[in-house]
Amino acid sequence: MAESAPMNDARVPLFARAELEAVLLPVESAHNLPGGLYLEPEVFALERDTIFSVGWTCIGRVEDLEEAGAFLSTEVAGRPVLVVRGEDDEMRAFHNVCRHRGACLAQEASGVARTFRCNYHAWTYGTDGQLLAAPLMDERADFDAADHGLAPVRLDTWGGFLFVNLDSAAPTLADAMSGFPDLERYDLESLRRVHSVTYDVDANWKVLCENYSECYHCALVHPQLNRVTDFRSGGESFVGDSFNGGPMALKEGYTTLSTTGQRRYPEIEGINDADRKQVQYLHLYPSFLIGLAPDYVLVHRVQPIDAGHSRVLCEWFYPETTVALPDFDASETIEFWDLTNRQDWGLCEMVQNGAESRLAPGPYHPLEFCVHAFDRWFVKQLGDRLAALQR
Ligand code: FES
Ligand SMILES: [Fe+2]
Repeated sequence: MAESAPMNDARVPLFARAELEAVLLPVESAHNLPGGLYLEPEVFALERDTIFSVGWTCIGRVEDLEEAGAFLSTEVAGRPVLVVRGEDDEMRAFHNVCRHRGACLAQEASGVARTFRCNYHAWTYGTDGQLLAAPLMDERADFDAADHGLAPVRLDTWGGFLFVNLDSAAPTLADAMSGFPDLERYDLESLRRVHSVTYDVDANWKVLCENYSECYHCALVHPQLNRVTDFRSGGESFVGDSFNGGPMALKEGYTTLSTTGQRRYPEIEGINDADRKQVQYLHLYPSFLIGLAPDYVLVHRVQPIDAGHSRVLCEWFYPETTVALPDFDASETIEFWDLTNRQDWGLCEMVQNGAESRLAPGPYHPLEFCVHAFDRWFVKQLGDRLAALQR
């Protein structure tokens, strides 16, 4: 009998190797990420496994956990996480999951609790994660409550920000941030959050991160921003294994980024002469974005929801001494950034829609040096697993 051709050999790679390799070239000859990287659920699943499940994710501030029992609950890589300050003053992170049948434990996003009682069968945990009560489980001879405390998650802090990591084998936060510019002089721990806004954006998390790292679009889209910092005023970029960033100079006659361009409040004590004349923007991979003006700090935390949707938590921080001033009012910086943010989200949604065309990606402008650094990091992170994806 003659051999027949295989009937079902139609699977093809999702991404051409040449397109992925074109991202890795020097910026002068490289091309942007293929559109499918912003669209495919398979890519999103891979990102969860290879980036968000093994990296450090900022989930809040130490100032959110000031008192014993204060907690935050959130999701990291789609997995529920609980961070709580214990009665012993230690901060700890756990999988926010009951050890009985695995129900999600704390339901509120934040609060203060003495214990955490599961709403299913009332297993109850202390703020240190110990199982304190498990109704009727003494009827099972081999049950030992000590074996069923909440499962720990790694927790660390940097600059007063809480970071968690789901991977017990991952490098420490300090190692993961190796080479990150020294921001000690901004005394980030002592800053206080004065405002936060959550934005839901119909765009992939990478589109948002890329948009943060270039000002090629600023003259056209952000006239208010470009009035204060010219889009070509970027100084030398910082590019490391886990971050990129760089400064933008304040134009002559302007002292901060705000609706007026004029500082209402003192500079952050400890900043240097260069800091007084610029705003620095830094992107710690995967999705922690921090901007440093002379008198305040702005953070964007980008949370992937699915391939086409992200949530952005934007937070404004000022020195405690500034916040304590009579009639303190940050509205000039809040309004300025809320406008700029919304302008940016519009751009990101345009890119997300355009990705659907799956046309060959275009070249980077040299001003997009940091975008390229991030895209290159991204392709390297996923490596061969990306090239192996098939449809
Ligand atoms: S699932 Fe939590 S007590 Fe049963
Ligand atoms: Fe922008």
